[in-house]
Amino acid sequence: MAPVATQTMDVKSIKSVAESPALSSVPSAYAFNINPNDEADPNDPEFAIPIVDMSLLTSGSPDQRSKIIHDLVKICKEWGFFIAINHGVPESLMKGMIDACHGFFSLPDEEKEEFKSGNDVLEMFKYGTSYNLALDKVLLWRDFFKVRVHPEFYSLYKPACFSEVSMEFSKRTREVALEITRAISESLGLEPNYIHDAMNMDHGLQMLAANYYPPCPQPEHAIGIPHHTDHGLVTLLIQNEMNGLQVEHNGKWLTVNGPANGFFVNLADQMQILTNGKYKSVMHRATVNNKATRISIAIPHGPSVDTLIAPAPELLEKEGQAPKYIGMNYKEYIQLQQSGKNYMKSTFDHILA
Ligand code: OGA
Ligand code: NI
Repeated sequence: MAPVATQTMDVKSIKSVAESPALSSVPSAYAFNINPNDEADPNDPEFAIPIVDMSLLTSGSPDQRSKIIHDLVKICKEWGFFIAINHGVPESLMKGMIDACHGFFSLPDEEKEEFKSGNDVLEMFKYGTSYNLALDKVLLWRDFFKVRVHPEFYSLYKPACFSEVSMEFSKRTREVALEITRAISESLGLEPNYIHDAMNMDHGLQMLAANYYPPCPQPEHAIGIPHHTDHGLVTLLIQNEMNGLQVEHNGKWLTVNGPANGFFVNLADQMQILTNGKYKSVMHRATVNNKATRISIAIPHGPSVDTLIAPAPELLEKEGQAPKYIGMNYKEYIQLQQSGKNYMKSTFDHILA
């Protein structure tokens, strides 16, 4: 039998593996065990996912806005995750974006390979399977692509509709993300533009990162994306009709099930660093299923890549705290996260003060 390493380097896409008629079990290179005892009971009120009505932030009365901002303190501390509803991005645009991503993943492997590139997160775009075939100890049951859409907008050139849809979708989701950062700034007792300005978000990094998870014959023996935190400030995520995202809450994994037109919003590492650990970059993962293909689109929003991120001095002073994290340039942080030193885990351990 050929060594696993040679076999795995030949994998073009999990889509083609999953479509092979002979597949009845998970190939050994993908073996990953999910422990069902770690899963949360979604009917337990302790695991009721917070919902944030964005229309009350943008056009509610001052009282309604203050109430949401007040709620956000608890949500960001205890969950680091919520579902944003009434956010103003048309459902047709969200669906159009999912369809355009589906169109890309449906191209023949050879055509998708044109979009392969190096392993630098700052590439214009990147298509691949698993996470990083050269580093992965277990292969992931997913194909993906990432496109950088801000501060400069890039696009895939296939399928033909991709560029137009992704430009509008990226612009509209950015408005939602910026509204969230304003509300979070206020929830910290800071000026609404504090995070935007301190993080140079005028030149902030925004990606469009799509994942394709085909049906898996033994979903409990494979993983779409293992537990990790995201490196930016805040990530918005949408999906087709299939669930699969799980967030860690009170020591359990909770499957996120929410309104189809909502954005799943998770706080990410730079938010935890900026708030000196007051707000939480939530641990999350993507599971797979044996019924239908799941597509998710994550839209991470971050500082500009040359910004030095450290706990906000205004907050340290207010809370009388010493900084818990050393300052680091965002680009270096991303490179540290992707170096494989802390394979798909939190990068914080490297920057504790
Ligand atoms: C990610 C991610 C989860 C999902 O792309 O960083 O966490 O549900 N995706 O696909
Ligand atoms: Ni993630």
